[in-house]
Amino acid sequence: MFDFSKTVDRHGTWCTQWDYIADRFGANDLLPFTISDMDFATAPCITETLEKRIAHGVLGYSRWQHEDFLGALRHWYAKRFNSAIDTDTAVYGPSVIYMVAQLIRLWSQPGEFVVTHTPAYDAFYKVVLGNQRQLLSCPLKQKEGEWYCDMAHLEALLARPQTKVLLLCSPQNPTGKVWTQAELHIMAELCERHDVKVISDEIHMDMTWGEHRHTPWNEVGKTPWALLTSASKSFNIPALTGAYGFINDPATRDAYFLQLKSKDGLSSPAVLAVAAHIAAYREGQPWLDELRGYLQANLEYVAHELNAAFPQLNWKIPQATYLAWIDLRALAVDDQALQRILIDEEKVAIMPGFTYGEEGRGFVRLNVGCPRSKVELGVQKLISALNKLVK
Ligand SMILES: Cc1ncc(COP(=O)(O)O)c(C=O)c1O
Repeated sequence: MFDFSKTVDRHGTWCTQWDYIADRFGANDLLPFTISDMDFATAPCITETLEKRIAHGVLGYSRWQHEDFLGALRHWYAKRFNSAIDTDTAVYGPSVIYMVAQLIRLWSQPGEFVVTHTPAYDAFYKVVLGNQRQLLSCPLKQKEGEWYCDMAHLEALLARPQTKVLLLCSPQNPTGKVWTQAELHIMAELCERHDVKVISDEIHMDMTWGEHRHTPWNEVGKTPWALLTSASKSFNIPALTGAYGFINDPATRDAYFLQLKSKDGLSSPAVLAVAAHIAAYREGQPWLDELRGYLQANLEYVAHELNAAFPQLNWKIPQATYLAWIDLRALAVDDQALQRILIDEEKVAIMPGFTYGEEGRGFVRLNVGCPRSKVELGVQKLISALNKLVK
């Protein structure tokens, strides 16, 4: 029903992915596979809703605490995750990371510790360090190609008296790990044992593949927690600036609203983002499901081509996200040399793994949220660059 193979020219739309590529990669003429947004137009049900709202013409102050929005959230959680989310606990904000920042400030003091699994989404480092907290890294381990958390190590970090918050990424960016219910229960118990609060960033929740199922934190949480998310990744609308979440602890919720509305003066939500969320969650399922099929096929293509060129990689598609986290360590190529060839000779921008911390060395992250024709170009250029380096 929907054509994801169509190329939309994003140049000249002030988009970070294409128009500002030189900021990160030092050159403008690169084919980008970088930050996590997609090259697809959003779902037609969203564009139609936005067009109607714009045609009305009046774009005055707005609200989000109404049944149209909250009912749409409940509907989505019931349909997609079989979860009865309590919308009395709902909160709203301009972006997930803005909300993460607020919760870190509410739940810890400067100098105290925030624990997160690494490699981690680069904004996690920035938001923790930018708020003068210390980041304690719990490196993810691998067994037979699957990522897992060393729970004993995690517990040792949570047990430190200055640790106040576990910043969880569920599903995890960049590894694409989907946390199992059993793992989530263990982490919830460890946080309870050591009196650690949980911020669960679930922005990639709709993009899990195969048999892997996302379990929202409200199903397992014990200590005060905040589940923060948005339809922005799934429906490719991050520039509308809208996110939401759920905070189970009433005192924290009140404090969050005080920060948002009084201290930061952000009382009106972006009405177009609210309208887009309602349309996405009420009418967007068919589009999203078709997109999910397309993205999985993109990832399968990457696996097929990479493994054909370099069988020793034995690369498997991630459990979630449209971000291919590719372990190149078996090829023993130098990260900087690879980036130089990718940029200077192959003219592609592919995220070096070290963007996501020390554990990312030897990896690259390739965003496949784009038409297959572009993925084909990107993968062939990556293979070509690797061939130049592998002896
Ligand atoms: C795990 C994760 N959280 C948050 C974000 C950004 O969300 P927002 O723009 O709403 O802060 C991203 C975007 O890449 C992400 O991968």
